[in-house]
Amino acid sequence: MYFNSIIFAKLSKMTLKETEEYFAQEILMQYDQNEANSIAKIALQFLLGLNNINYSLEYRTTVPQQAFAEINEYVKRLQLGEPIQYIIGEAHFMGFNFQVSPQVLIPRRETEELVALIVQENMQKRALKVLDVCTGSGCIAIALKKLLKDAEISAIDISKEALAIARENAIKLKTKVKFYAIDILETQDLTLGHFDVIVSNPPYVTESEKKRMHANVIQHEPHLALFVEDANPLIFYNKITALATANLLPNGRLYFEINEKFAKEVSDILEFHNFSNIIVHNDMQGKARIISGKMKN
Ligand SMILES: C[S@@+](CC[C@H](N)C(=O)[O-])C[C@H]1O[C@@H](n2cnc3c(N)ncnc32)[C@H](O)[C@@H]1O
Repeated sequence: MYFNSIIFAKLSKMTLKETEEYFAQEILMQYDQNEANSIAKIALQFLLGLNNINYSLEYRTTVPQQAFAEINEYVKRLQLGEPIQYIIGEAHFMGFNFQVSPQVLIPRRETEELVALIVQENMQKRALKVLDVCTGSGCIAIALKKLLKDAEISAIDISKEALAIARENAIKLKTKVKFYAIDILETQDLTLGHFDVIVSNPPYVTESEKKRMHANVIQHEPHLALFVEDANPLIFYNKITALATANLLPNGRLYFEINEKFAKEVSDILEFHNFSNIIVHNDMQGKARIISGKMKN
């Protein structure tokens, strides 16, 4: 990588620290200072091929002049609102590196909390059968496979492009997950078998909430992954809960990531379908973000 080039190092003027400051400064119109600093670090680590430790070691070293064409290209794309994860083609989730593209949602911090809850509540059980509905990049399914070692994991998405990325992620992360192209809203019964856990982070942002969203989300992330109609915002929760009653084993558990506005409504759906132990879990920002329930015997 660039740091191996003594010739270029001699030509350059800015240290890595100064370059990071310059980079962050250039994207301050789009991000607050903390976000800008962390994006600058992610971008420079990627561009210069440095891991966390090497990044610190090289912090006072000059950045080769040659690297600045790409650095400025990244800055330009960030200024136009492109998320850094799509620029570098990867996102961190539960300590693993997932490949992402504009065909899949960028895995979110809240979704890590969903995975952590499932692991915490099910780690004692052996040979768990898990179904992830609306898998996108495969982040939930693959992270669960990594963390619940002998679990058998299946995952569904409507998008063939998303499934192609999810399959690549499973290969790259050396996990076995079965992926299926299924439109969950059109499925009358799931013939994939019975499961101990069904989890879903379905589209849940209403069209009317679009206005308050960051422009970079609306312009760059897949709308198929994000939005539901105002007239039927719970369409996925109704359908997936109904299917879960037929596809969960006795005492099986259902986990949803939810729109904080609809905690009561999603709880009611689970109650209507006779789930017990229905719990609303808040995320780290104190917002209702996860609902879990247990299938009655
Ligand atoms: C909010 S994203 C979740 C992605 C990933 N599980 C995560 O947590 O980052 C929702 C996913 O649902 C998929 N999806 C949308 N409509 C669907 C449908 N009718 N049937 C199955 N999947 C659908 C989208 O393609 C998208 O990948």
